Amino acid sequence: MKEITRISETRIRKFHEKIFTWWKKNKRSLPWRETTNPYYIMISEIMLQQTQVNRSIEKYLEFIDKYPTIKDLAEASVSSVLKSWSGLGYNRRALWLHEAANQIVKLKDFPETPEELQKLKGIGPYTSRSILIFAFNYDIATVDTNIRRILIAENFAKKETKEKELFIIAQKLLPKGKARDWHNALMDFGSLVLTSAKTGIKPKTTTSRNSKENRRFRGIIVKYLTRNSKALKERMIKNCNIPTEKIDDILEGLLADGLIIKIRKYYALPE
Ligand code: ADE
Repeated sequence: MKEITRISETRIRKFHEKIFTWWKKNKRSLPWRETTNPYYIMISEIMLQQTQVNRSIEKYLEFIDKYPTIKDLAEASVSSVLKSWSGLGYNRRALWLHEAANQIVKLKDFPETPEELQKLKGIGPYTSRSILIFAFNYDIATVDTNIRRILIAENFAKKETKEKELFIIAQKLLPKGKARDWHNALMDFGSLVLTSAKTGIKPKTTTSRNSKENRRFRGIIVKYLTRNSKALKERMIKNCNIPTEKIDDILEGLLADGLIIKIRKYYALPE
């Protein structure tokens, strides 16, 4: 294993001071920061993985209003959850969130380790940690694109640094007992000061044009089916403006992901 550079205590202290001094005057007020309910935090983190902060605020408030407890979400139908998710994109995440809610209500308590949380549908290293940080203020670190950009811009990491090493570096920089404030501060600093435009540091994963287009068509079909209880393939080609040569692949993908079902010749959302 490659040796990881030691970071001096002084440098760490100065970094804390810089971030927290800036944050005292510039922190954003966001609805998911008003709660420590792990269920609400889980919803916000899954939304924020894919959607910008400003666009997530309204959706988050609507969602927790409609499904105020994890039991409410678990008991809701897939089609109503997909309806509530409409406009956020990445519909698979809504399905996973619904499944995770079902898994959690079967447990006695909300999972409290990254390993336990990662057993749930759709929850990976980033989200498992961010839930524990924002809900329970546990002394753990996480790295999203904002935080990665800060680590690089502040010379704690390089553009090539692998994810696993980024997590180790972030853990070394964590001020103990302050994980919640620290991560909120870093996310604000990354979004408002060390932006991608300013630093020239791009997110690591870029989606290909083809898969972006594919995702757009998938979204259009799911949205269409939230408004029409069932539809034939030919109707979707026409009304959703999907290229005929693409429709079979797209429908197959949606079926495989459990986002739609097929009843005889009709496609529909799952119950
Ligand atoms: N992006 C992901 N999680 C966030 C949070 N809690 N606040 C702001 N931006 C975020």
